[in-house]
Amino acid sequence: MTSNSILILAAGEGTRMKSDLPKVLHSLAGKALVEHVLDAVAPLGGAVGIVLGRGAERVKERLSGRKGLAFFIQKERRGSGDAVRPAARWLASRGGSVLVLCGDAPLVRTESLRALTRVHRREKNAATLLTAEVPDPAGYGRIRRGPDGRPAAIVEQRDASVEEQSIREINSGTYCFRIRDLLEGLRRLRPNNAKGEYYLTDVIGFLVGRSRSVGALRLSDGDEILGVNNRRELAEAGRRINGRLLDRLMDAGVTVVDPATTFVEESVRVGRDTVIEPQTFLAGATRIGRNCRIGPMTRLQDCVVADGVRLEASFGEGARVESGARVGPFSRLRPGAVIGRDAHVGNFVEIKKTRLGAGAKVNHLSYLGDATVGPQVNVGAGVITCNYDGVQKHRTVIGRGAFIGSNVNLVAPLRVGAGAVVGAGSTLTRDVPAQALALERAPAVVKRGWAKSKRTRKSSPSHG
Ligand code: UD1
Ligand code: CA
Repeated sequence: MTSNSILILAAGEGTRMKSDLPKVLHSLAGKALVEHVLDAVAPLGGAVGIVLGRGAERVKERLSGRKGLAFFIQKERRGSGDAVRPAARWLASRGGSVLVLCGDAPLVRTESLRALTRVHRREKNAATLLTAEVPDPAGYGRIRRGPDGRPAAIVEQRDASVEEQSIREINSGTYCFRIRDLLEGLRRLRPNNAKGEYYLTDVIGFLVGRSRSVGALRLSDGDEILGVNNRRELAEAGRRINGRLLDRLMDAGVTVVDPATTFVEESVRVGRDTVIEPQTFLAGATRIGRNCRIGPMTRLQDCVVADGVRLEASFGEGARVESGARVGPFSRLRPGAVIGRDAHVGNFVEIKKTRLGAGAKVNHLSYLGDATVGPQVNVGAGVITCNYDGVQKHRTVIGRGAFIGSNVNLVAPLRVGAGAVVGAGSTLTRDVPAQALALERAPAVVKRGWAKSKRTRKSSPSHG
């Protein structure tokens, strides 16, 4: 059998992360580290095995939506070579070659994996390494090349001589192995190194010593080799992934004003000629249409935004904004908010489970929850839907073209008919028919001269 096999090593302790969360579950651009690796290998086809250790149950649970993964458990962390052992029988039964990757290297690209496999096949190697020359090789295994220019061994940082430490070609931790040779090499591993671990990298020296052919594909761009071992590297990997995602948007005709302060997740789609202003975060299943202006200072999670929308300094989650609408600055759209065509939502307005009709306006300081607001309705400053009675939520329905004056409390359940007017300051507990005026207001008391005489009384000298 020569079908593709892929093995991801993810059982490391992740000690340097100083975290309660298994390292490979730390998230970058909305996906766990290991999910980035799984997504990179998915297009290759083939069976995928994954070796887990600490927190295996949590990792399995996170990956439960993915079909056909074979899980292996490394009980004790004894090195990357030891990590392959739990999968040895699986590998033996599959035969052919296996692509081995680290679960903590999220930037690896599918094209590089394809190229690596091609070199491996073409040269009929026992092992083929993915390497790169980097300016700062600290922490990585170095590739020692023999007089023939081919890899002779991988030397880990801690075990490297001063001379070897100056080698800038590093091991990515991604390899292709002929399974037979890999399994043979694993049996010969000894923990004779600074860490006292069984190093997978020692299999290379072993194979070379047996005159098996070992090759390497050296990447010109070391970018994708970054392994995440600590939080600084996590942040660095995040920056690079984000940079790639923003490049993809820009290549598709989106303007990103400041890539350094704009963050997107892979699942996000943005239409051409949309401008993304600085300090904007687009996450989850967010879809943005064409010719929009999003940001600055905006965060959208799972929002659908149609064409020509202006959304400034606002937060949205699970909301839909129809074409031509204006939102913000300082609006909050919560799940179930639907902002109709050309509608306006202004500053300090919160909208939840509410449909705002086309051309409706809620411009200042309002809360609309569990409401249906018809087209062209004007909602004045400070209007609140009192949707919750402490036990249950109730709906408010406002008909087309109604006018709700400032500072009105709409006590739900409540219906305001089309074209009705509700006077400012009312606390409305009864339905209002179409075209009616509703007013709930205590009569004002006005006493002429009262204020002035009070002041005079106060300032006159006391005789007491
Ligand atoms: C490893 C390589 C190094 C390479 C670097 C690339 C070894 C000995 N060294 O170093 O040459 O430059 O990756 O990022 O392999 N793992 C287990 N079980 C263990 C130990 C490790 O599953 O007992 C897994 C880890 O989860 C990780 C991978 O093996 O995915 C590498 O282990 P790690 O400890 O991160 O090795 P590095 O020091 O980064
Ligand atoms: Ca690592």
